[in-house]
Amino acid sequence: MLRGKTILLGVTGGIAAYKAAILCSKLVQKGAEVHVIMTESAVRFIAPLTLQTLSRHPVHLDTFDEQNPGAVTHIDLADRADLILIAPATANSLAKLAAGLADDMLSTTLLAATAPIIAAPAMNVHMYEHPATVANMETLGRRGVRFIDPGTGQLACGYVAKGRLAEPEDIVLAAERFFASRTLLAGKRLLVTAGGTVERFDPVRYLTNDSSGKMGFAIAEAARDMGAEVTVVAARTDVPAPGGVELVRVESAEQMLEAVLSRYAEADIVVKAAAVADYRPVERHASKLKKSAATLTLELEKTTDILAELGRRKSGQFLVGFAAETERLAEHAMDKLRRKNCDLIVANDVTMEGAGFGGDTNAVQVFDAAGPALSLPVLGKRETAERVLELVAARLGGAREEAR
Ligand code: CTP
Repeated sequence: MLRGKTILLGVTGGIAAYKAAILCSKLVQKGAEVHVIMTESAVRFIAPLTLQTLSRHPVHLDTFDEQNPGAVTHIDLADRADLILIAPATANSLAKLAAGLADDMLSTTLLAATAPIIAAPAMNVHMYEHPATVANMETLGRRGVRFIDPGTGQLACGYVAKGRLAEPEDIVLAAERFFASRTLLAGKRLLVTAGGTVERFDPVRYLTNDSSGKMGFAIAEAARDMGAEVTVVAARTDVPAPGGVELVRVESAEQMLEAVLSRYAEADIVVKAAAVADYRPVERHASKLKKSAATLTLELEKTTDILAELGRRKSGQFLVGFAAETERLAEHAMDKLRRKNCDLIVANDVTMEGAGFGGDTNAVQVFDAAGPALSLPVLGKRETAERVLELVAARLGGAREEAR
């Protein structure tokens, strides 16, 4: 996967910078052309000569050290990269990238680059968990920067906690998976729903649920990066929608039904990650309800089950449903899969730590008509989305092969 690929390796100044040598060596061994940029602080931890020898190219340190009058080095490096790896990525380097600073060779090149970026953070656990770092990573994540989670273990500062640079083998694997995944869904149209529906009973009051929209948006982002043409039908969400996708905003289950059905015929894959209200208020008052009696009874009626409707109308679409369960996960998930005529059901036990609504992680089990198809540990929602879509792509590929 890495043969012939140009990888720009940004090395920033943390103690884990020494591991960049192993990473660089492994990338070169896999056939990648590696160009290294080091920050001034990185040079305090590891000699540029080490990375020059391993990469077989000069290491770039200074924006103004222009050796070739025929090119502007930071632009040239930015343009040539198929992928940018930042390893280790310090809190400072992430902050600079998030803020768009360009005050050294690496930050200037990153600002000029349009290539995808994978960053492998490494820092003290409190720096990693600091709201500023968390916010910077969220900002970068929204712009498409991917992260390789740091590991938990002995940190150089003495703590035993999260913050160790991911192992070089895992960073290489992430780079390989990145290139492998880019075309997995090329030419496919994917429709995904996200968020929680809003069912109003007067102009300012409504029933909704805890869905944040993060899982649906993660599916949308991952599908986009796998080459799919993506439409997201999103109800109420807590997070901004990803770029590079068609976004259709809706509010209620009824509006979502309409938006999804009108786009169903053109879709190859439909993922129903939204938390759709099962019931809505029968009456929607035109003016704000006034309080009078001691109790108030709201009468609710069933909404249309969108997924079941899609299952009924299926004409070649690959249908993926979600199931949030609190008990007997496999049994309930399989029941939903059959009732709603899905190809896959992504089920999670919402009582489990790291798998509930609103968080940044999920732990899912995926079922197909034959039973368990994939079981994932607690992962970031983006990675969960990638793994699920890899399975979808494999199934679609298989289906095509059978048809031939
Ligand atoms: N769903 C839907 N339309 C609805 C309700 C649910 O499309 N009106 C979809 C969700 O988007 C999700 C799947 O159905 O993909 C599972 O949702 P859930 O509410 O757990 O399904 P139910 O069949 O309503 O499950 P339960 O019997 O547990 O209420």
